Amino acid sequence: MKITVIHGQSHKGSTYNITKQIIDKILDTNKEIYEYFMPRDTPNYCIGCYNCFNESENSCPQAEKVQKIVKSMEISDIIVIDSPTYCFEMTGQLKTLFDHFGYMWLSHRPKQVMFNKVGIVISTAAGAGARKVTKALAQQMFWLGIPKVFQYSKNVSASNWEMVPNKVKKSIEHDISKLSTKVQSKVGKVSPNFRLKFIFTIMGMMQKSNNWNKVDQNYWKENGWLDKKTPW
Ligand SMILES: Cc1cc2nc3c(=O)[nH]c(=O)nc-3n(C[C@H](O)[C@H](O)[C@H](O)COP(=O)(O)O)c2cc1C
Repeated sequence: MKITVIHGQSHKGSTYNITKQIIDKILDTNKEIYEYFMPRDTPNYCIGCYNCFNESENSCPQAEKVQKIVKSMEISDIIVIDSPTYCFEMTGQLKTLFDHFGYMWLSHRPKQVMFNKVGIVISTAAGAGARKVTKALAQQMFWLGIPKVFQYSKNVSASNWEMVPNKVKKSIEHDISKLSTKVQSKVGKVSPNFRLKFIFTIMGMMQKSNNWNKVDQNYWKENGWLDKKTPW
């Protein structure tokens, strides 16, 4: 089983430790993990040149860093993304990475391989906001075409993992056991739900009359998605 893990932070605090526990609990004798830490692996900010949308993702000034991560995601069965909650949002360095994924949103050139992956998104907060962050991370995954995303948010009442009360750690362990069983049962068995199919269909209608971006339209044509074919 191949797993891409994107950490929205570089330090190994509560968020990292929860993610690690989830990955450790997913039972597979042949786990291959591709792990990225932000900002170490974050590409530079999107400068709004539109090269990825209008020419090719390889024309992005940050293509080298972005495509390395994209290639891992493409070959993975599970994509895990985590972030501590910063001022009710994901970390800035993680958002910077997501900005570079816009070209492969459903509204542009989604990747067929994303339509059978399982996503896991994780966030911790001291007191409030983690749920909002996992929702935002799940939304990013939805627009990449990932059909099943598990969200785990936790208020840990602490600023670092060492200070997380034992009672909270116990409840995390319990939650994670249940979550990893659910994840395992879904790997290789997911398909898009009504909402994802519906949005994809609307995007297809838009692409049929697309006279503003021929790169996107040709991509849909070449995949046969403007006729009867679908990516699932
Ligand atoms: C810049 C910054 C902003 C934060 N914003 C929030 C917040 O909006 N809500 C909250 O409950 N905790 C907030 N916290 C606390 C962290 O979200 C919380 O301690 C989290 O568990 C840290 O995860 P980590 O150990 O993986 O870094 C913030 C911490 C920092 C450094």
